[in-house]
Amino acid sequence: MLSRRLLFFGGKGGVGKTTLASATALTLADQRLRTLLVSTDPAHSTSDILRADLGPEPRPVVADCWAMELDPEREADRYIADVKGRIAESVAPRLVAEVERQIDIARASPGATEAALFERFTRILEEEGREFDRVVFDTAPTGQTLQLLSLPEQMSAWITGLIGRRRKMTAAGRMWRNVAGAAAENAASDDDPVLQALEERRARFLRARGVLVDAEQTAFVFVVLPERLPIWETGRAVEALGKHGIPVAGILVNQVLPDDLSGDFVDRRKAREAKYLAKIQEDLGNWPLWRVPMQEEDPVGTDSLRELGNAVWGSYGMIPKAPYEMNTGGTESPA
Ligand SMILES: Nc1ncnc2c1ncn2[C@@H]1O[C@H](COP(=O)(O)OP(=O)(O)OP(=O)(O)O)[C@@H](O)[C@H]1O
Ligand SMILES: [Mg+2]
Repeated sequence: MLSRRLLFFGGKGGVGKTTLASATALTLADQRLRTLLVSTDPAHSTSDILRADLGPEPRPVVADCWAMELDPEREADRYIADVKGRIAESVAPRLVAEVERQIDIARASPGATEAALFERFTRILEEEGREFDRVVFDTAPTGQTLQLLSLPEQMSAWITGLIGRRRKMTAAGRMWRNVAGAAAENAASDDDPVLQALEERRARFLRARGVLVDAEQTAFVFVVLPERLPIWETGRAVEALGKHGIPVAGILVNQVLPDDLSGDFVDRRKAREAKYLAKIQEDLGNWPLWRVPMQEEDPVGTDSLRELGNAVWGSYGMIPKAPYEMNTGGTESPA
């Protein structure tokens, strides 16, 4: 699982997605794999848990580990500003105000923020993320994750709608300009920059979808707690991902009571936990299950997170080998 390039961490609110995504990123970086941790959670808990100052572009956290926190609203504003800039260059000056007004309407329409976030996401997949050996996504709670991952379909439908409207608009514009006697004004839809941008975006969304469903490159990991409610919800979410063709690599069962504890209170807690662990085995046992012991203290800061990641993935023998050293001038070659 850790040998795939793109790793997604999903699950219900508060189960430990940010903690385990960060721990995993640090474990990979520890193996000298250049790793980028990306959070799409507007609550910015990644900087909190890593104790690092993060922003919308990758910043170094420790050697070989970078992290960034995307803010959906900010992405949407940036995206709109970018579109306006491109349009200002290509539309006749007297039309700019009207076109900008239409873009502002689009900014406020449902789906715009998601589209902008997804736009950035596809750029991470195709461009920004290319510089890294691994990209680890700490996604927001289940609902939003599913939404994000099913977006390529929705977005491509949304864009198809926009393209249709744009076609009508340019046709009407052409007619109007013909009547007004200004026929030659950048009207042909073939070199219409807005249409081109929309078509390009649709193609990019579809490519992103191709990447998401590719089990060679992508692994989706669910985090669950041995408690009553999350198990059922996780089962449903995992199935939903399967329906979208997204490869679920396994499930991290977080906050399992350590074996070496004893005492009446702990024994009772453990008996209760055993029931839920059995239920997890029964409901989710089709996927690999990996246990993460409950820690005495909240695992925060790069040291404790790396230690946690190494302990968990190490105990399952899943830590990938350090990459072949390219720059040592040695003569050995990779097997
Ligand atoms: N194995 C663990 N042992 C002890 N505490 C843990 C463990 N895993 C996570 N926690 C703690 O549980 C809390 C929730 O974890 P975290 O923020 O990673 O969850 P999340 O799924 O990202 O939450 P959200 O849905 O709000 O983004 C945090 O206080 C974290 O420190
Ligand atoms: Mg989180």
